[in-house]
Amino acid sequence: MIFNQIFCSDTLKTLKTLPSNCVDLGITSPPYNKREKNNGGLVKKVIYSTYKDSVPERKYQSNQVQVLNEIYRATKEGGSFFYNHKLRYLNGQMIHPMDWLRKTDWLLKQEIIWDRTIAANIRGWRFWQVEERIYWLYKPINKQAIGKELNSKHAKLTSIWRAAPENHNPHPAPFPLWLPTRIILSVLNQRGVVLDPYIGSGTVGVAAKLLGHDYLGIDIDKNYCADAKQRIEQAHLEQDIIDREKALHVVSKTYQERKESKRLKSLEYTVLDTNL
Ligand SMILES: C[S@@+](CC[C@H](N)C(=O)[O-])C[C@H]1O[C@@H](n2cnc3c(N)ncnc32)[C@H](O)[C@@H]1O
Repeated sequence: MIFNQIFCSDTLKTLKTLPSNCVDLGITSPPYNKREKNNGGLVKKVIYSTYKDSVPERKYQSNQVQVLNEIYRATKEGGSFFYNHKLRYLNGQMIHPMDWLRKTDWLLKQEIIWDRTIAANIRGWRFWQVEERIYWLYKPINKQAIGKELNSKHAKLTSIWRAAPENHNPHPAPFPLWLPTRIILSVLNQRGVVLDPYIGSGTVGVAAKLLGHDYLGIDIDKNYCADAKQRIEQAHLEQDIIDREKALHVVSKTYQERKESKRLKSLEYTVLDTNL
């Protein structure tokens, strides 16, 4: 298997050619099937140059289930996949990513809210939707669902990640670089292979490379593939963003020490109580 490359092709077709159990971690934001007609005006409209983001919803969800199951097969036991999506509305009715995530082979480990602090649509049908979701999916080892604890140094991070979308990137829907950086730093403790099946401008490849891992990318658009390759070659230019994210992953106490100091505090209170 050759790593550190981008396949310029359809995701599902390419995933089927990957061997089983070769990927340690995946991160992606697929096309959302937004059927975008109107634009609220606060953020740029997402129009891909090759892919038309408009298919019947049933077909879209069935494709996503197949894609996610192929990724599950290609992922090693104990590996994770982080899937960024959002709540959408069709004829007034909410469509939730859980509608198809529960149909996949993955264990659903966590739902993270990405508070983007800005709404894509400024109409008043609902309260302004400023968030997207990131699903942490897990492939258990020997059917052990719990998996390993995160290292203590990530303990400052909560399940709400707050930061505006990326604005300095010509791709219509790029990840901000801190996002895949945070994920890789948090779950990949040894050198591994990071997959992005819809790699777009190559953000996941940049993060993987700068953090000392290998990457695999897929995108259907030739121009995005070419731009992503070039960007990954010059990844060092974005090192400052990686360093800023790394600086957030520092705590003074381990989980065990925190638990212990809490236990001692509660003992102190019990002694005080009995003295009263
Ligand atoms: C939301 S963007 C991903 C952006 C990426 N996270 C980044 O940081 O730039 C989704 C990407 O999926 C690609 N795409 C859409 N349909 C595809 C398909 N069937 N196979 C492969 N890529 C596809 C689009 O060209 C687009 O670049």
